[in-house]
Amino acid sequence: MSNTRVTVSVIKDRKVKGIPITMLTAYDYAMAKMLDSAQIDMILVGDSLGNVVLGYDSTLPVTMEDMIHHGKAVCRGTKNTMVVVDMPFMSYQVSVTEAVQNAGRLLKETGAQAVKVEGGVEIVEAVKAIVRAGIPVVGHLGLTPQSIHQLGGFKVQGKDEETAKKLIDDAKLLVESGVFAVVLECVPEKLAAKITQTIAVPTIGIGAGSGCDGQVLVVNDMFGMYSDFTPKFVKKFANLQAQMLTAIMEYKQEVTARTFPAKEHTFSIAEEVLDKLY
Ligand code: KIV
Repeated sequence: MSNTRVTVSVIKDRKVKGIPITMLTAYDYAMAKMLDSAQIDMILVGDSLGNVVLGYDSTLPVTMEDMIHHGKAVCRGTKNTMVVVDMPFMSYQVSVTEAVQNAGRLLKETGAQAVKVEGGVEIVEAVKAIVRAGIPVVGHLGLTPQSIHQLGGFKVQGKDEETAKKLIDDAKLLVESGVFAVVLECVPEKLAAKITQTIAVPTIGIGAGSGCDGQVLVVNDMFGMYSDFTPKFVKKFANLQAQMLTAIMEYKQEVTARTFPAKEHTFSIAEEVLDKLY
């Protein structure tokens, strides 16, 4: 395998060539290493970290320190994959200066190649300033979990004319502001396809149908390792939770029965050394 990191131009070129982009989330070294070896194009250190790793009921409590801690671990596990780190809630909404400083911290302290921000017209000044600072930015429209209280729950976005038009306008504005890709979450398939045809940068869909330029899923969802809530758009490519639970029960049974550890898991010591002890 080559040791060439996927770059912004590689991702943009995929749209031109019509080659689908693969993106998955990761939050630690081991998972990142696996995704990197499978040549997944982009890893998102998503603030879904808050739900699937830290046990919060939303992404709102996730901090810059959380993102940096997990971003660093993910970057240590990658050689080829592009790593994108989510900017957490309130790290880019308060002021443009703070947005640039926090985006800079995410790149400097984790080693990631890009950041992702949620929202449209409301955040374009922040996006422009981050891009001006030389930091690649991915946008995120549709169901934006950081605005969950404003959206009133996890619902499909852009179902009526007004909200569908706003999504198209926001996508165009984000592109004008310099994003190199846009995540579309929980958007009707035909609207996502229309946005994909309208804008010049790749769209990466999650619950947005097959007309997007790429797809992203939360790994814990696709592995069947997160059971608190499973959105309709998730396909479980494995059911690891059931397999892991079986392994845990077997371990418990073997430890209780003293059949684990067995001979092959233990280390020996010479009898004469033992004899000299006390
Ligand atoms: O935080 C995350 O994992 C995300 C994906 C759902 C796109 O933003």
